[in-house]
Amino acid sequence: MSNKSLALPHNELTILVTGGAGFIGSHTCIELLGQNYNVVIVDDLSNSSKIAVERIRELSGADENQLVFYECNILDREGLETVFSKHAIDAIIHFAGFKAVGESTQKPLEYYWNNVAGSLVLFDVARNHGVKNVIFSSSATVYGDPEMIPITEECPLHEATNPYGETKAMMERILTDFYRADSEWNVVLLRYFNPIGAHESGRIGEDPKDIPNNLLPYVAQVAVGKLERIGVFGNDYPTKDGTGVRDYIHVVDLATGHVAAIKYAAAHSGSIAINLGTGVGYSVLDMISAFSRAVGKEIPYTIDARRPGDIAECYADPKLAYDLLGWKAVHTLDDMCADSWRWQQQNPYGYSDKEA
Ligand code: UFG
Repeated sequence: MSNKSLALPHNELTILVTGGAGFIGSHTCIELLGQNYNVVIVDDLSNSSKIAVERIRELSGADENQLVFYECNILDREGLETVFSKHAIDAIIHFAGFKAVGESTQKPLEYYWNNVAGSLVLFDVARNHGVKNVIFSSSATVYGDPEMIPITEECPLHEATNPYGETKAMMERILTDFYRADSEWNVVLLRYFNPIGAHESGRIGEDPKDIPNNLLPYVAQVAVGKLERIGVFGNDYPTKDGTGVRDYIHVVDLATGHVAAIKYAAAHSGSIAINLGTGVGYSVLDMISAFSRAVGKEIPYTIDARRPGDIAECYADPKLAYDLLGWKAVHTLDDMCADSWRWQQQNPYGYSDKEA
């Protein structure tokens, strides 16, 4: 059995990061390595790049033992068996999953198969190796159209309007049931708000494969000249300027939240859901003008129709994260935009060296 106490010195602990080559995963690996944890990445590279792993190594200075990479899908039981047999894993941070809301409505089978069935394979193999400490990548999407703003963890959960959101809600329930049946499971469900920004080095960041679905990557590609203008999805919401309001959080803050969750899991057991947000809401127009400031030029936009499924307002009450994890977001909106822009400018084609 390899489920040693998470309270050992960091350099004696090994964290498995599924989806570690992805946007939030790569930044989390940097923070873990910066605090001397050993990291094993499992990523199938379906929506990420091997270059991200090389850059994690470059930025962290991790050697071959501290950082190990496996190209492996979480549905691949044999591949996971190899990983758990070779490494004494102490905890899992589980990011791997498909994440495009719109695509999930077109490909529900793929989303449930990968995100739910894949997670079950992962946790079955983990359990067989005695690994029951899990930090799960959940989302504010589990609150649906929220009943309260700011959103506390007490806010009732609502059915998601798309299969992607449903997979997050399902995994929250499944992991909570694991703990109810067997109190050796130790589960922290982290509900992210809207991650943006990039590592301040400009070496790692978000690399959407196709035309971006999310606001900031889209705005960044307009700024760099790859796309012509940003369409604002509706200006008739009941918000200060009529455009949608979200809680944008710097991806590095989100990453440090995961390290704080690992430390929390070392001292507590149970199953708990925690919001990771800033507590501040910005509108789409706020974001466009903040990004324009970072870039030093106007970002062209038009007002378009609302996007189906969007809600007016969504921002966190981040108090529980502060009380339990001693964590809070420290980066400002200007940091987020400046860092996104640096990444975008230095890597106009993301991790590839030419336009796809
Ligand atoms: N928006 C635009 N134009 C665009 C893209 C987005 O105006 O081209 C607006 C949206 O209407 C919304 C805001 O910008 O008001 C943010 O939209 P994003 O698509 O960036 O983010 P969402 O809040 O819709 O989605 C995010 C995550 C999902 C998660 C969801 C709910 O991307 O994974 O929050 O928590 F499910």
